[in-house]
Amino acid sequence: MKLNTVLGVMILLSGFALAQERFQPDRMKNMQDMEIAMSTIQKGFLYNNLNVVKNGVKDLKVTALHTESFIKEGVSEKGINTLAYAKKETEYITKLADAILVSFEKGDRYEAANGYLKVLSKCLSCHQTVRSW
Ligand code: HEC
Repeated sequence: MKLNTVLGVMILLSGFALAQERFQPDRMKNMQDMEIAMSTIQKGFLYNNLNVVKNGVKDLKVTALHTESFIKEGVSEKGINTLAYAKKETEYITKLADAILVSFEKGDRYEAANGYLKVLSKCLSCHQTVRSW
């Protein structure tokens, strides 16, 4: 192979790697898992099933640990969404998730549903900040 060809292939490959990174499939996957965790919690409420709520809360907390998935590249440059903001939001979500379970275990469905809404508004307020929807 000529040096030019080798270089060309290398440039092509690094281009793919960059495109991959920009797409952020892992981040999106984590967000999608978060959405599933929220649906699970809601299902637990509606079927009045403590174990389902427990699973949803557990999954929500695991996904919330992936702070990096809360950051959209480029946004931080504008000074809107910093790592600190994402960390704070994930901390809130984790605390609220625990509170949902405590309320549900006590039989306080209304308070549990309130906690769920609080988490949902955290999701939405960040989305509004990072992507305007
Ligand atoms: C601190 C910020 C932040 C919080 C809080 C947050 N998200 Fe996200 N979310 C993001 C970012 C960043 C994206 C990706 C935006 C992009 O690249 O366009 C995203 C995208 C998503 C998507 C779309 C994924 C796709 O494939 O298009 C879903 C679903 C989602 N989030 C669910 C949730 C849920 C559920 C919560 C709350 C439990 C939540 N998010 C909380 C930052 C956040």
